[in-house]
Amino acid sequence: MRATDYKIARFDAAERMVHWMAALCFLYSALTGLAMWSHKLFWLAWVFGGGPVVRATHPWVGILFTLVLGLMFRRWAADMRLDDDDRVWLRNSHRYAVHAEEGLPDSGRFNAGQKMLFWTQSAFTLLLLASGVVLWFPEVMPRALRLLAVLLHPLAAIGAMGAIIVHIYMGTAAVPEAFRGMIQGWVRPGWAAGHHAKWYRETQRRSGR
Ligand code: HEM
Repeated sequence: MRATDYKIARFDAAERMVHWMAALCFLYSALTGLAMWSHKLFWLAWVFGGGPVVRATHPWVGILFTLVLGLMFRRWAADMRLDDDDRVWLRNSHRYAVHAEEGLPDSGRFNAGQKMLFWTQSAFTLLLLASGVVLWFPEVMPRALRLLAVLLHPLAAIGAMGAIIVHIYMGTAAVPEAFRGMIQGWVRPGWAAGHHAKWYRETQRRSGR
């Protein structure tokens, strides 16, 4: 059998479902959050059913997003631990950005950039949850906490949106076949060997090839 004649399983159905649930919840929370943040973006509220609907649903979808991200965390946290190769990769990540990857250490199932996104996103989500709960029930919160939350919530949201914009670009335009992996669950061996060589070798060892 030629190398191109078989598919390598990248994400199982549960991983893909959790990922796309997270994506939907994130998009909804981000757009409704922007609608409430600036009057110039309030037109977005009408897309989602008007101001009162957006005000009522945004925190609940935020909670749902946190829960879904918790599932993602449980599934992927072990794969996301940084090892020594990842640290070398990160120190030389400018090469990855300009498509000059030769000499960068081989990546496992996720490369060091993807791992950083995961941890950054997890940290932003915790901040969003904590500050969001304060903004949800301001009447029972001390003034100092309210002021901190007013500052932290949009800052964490901007950070998370920035990270996700980079992630969407990487998962679609920059690394084309990655998207099929997250839709159909499989990738070509050539793609796996090129982008995640260490992981590719493991899959080959496990399947006895
Ligand atoms: C809405 C648009 C999104 C698109 C098009 C997208 C696309 C993708 C793709 C193609 C992959 C697979 C990458 C690979 O095989 O190496 C992936 C993985 C992943 N996605 Fe997304 N994603 C989106 C939103 C999100 C959101 C909102 C989150 C979490 C807050 C998220 C978190 C992750 C994580 C942690 C991974 C695994 C590591 C990585 O590839 O960065 N994604 N995504």
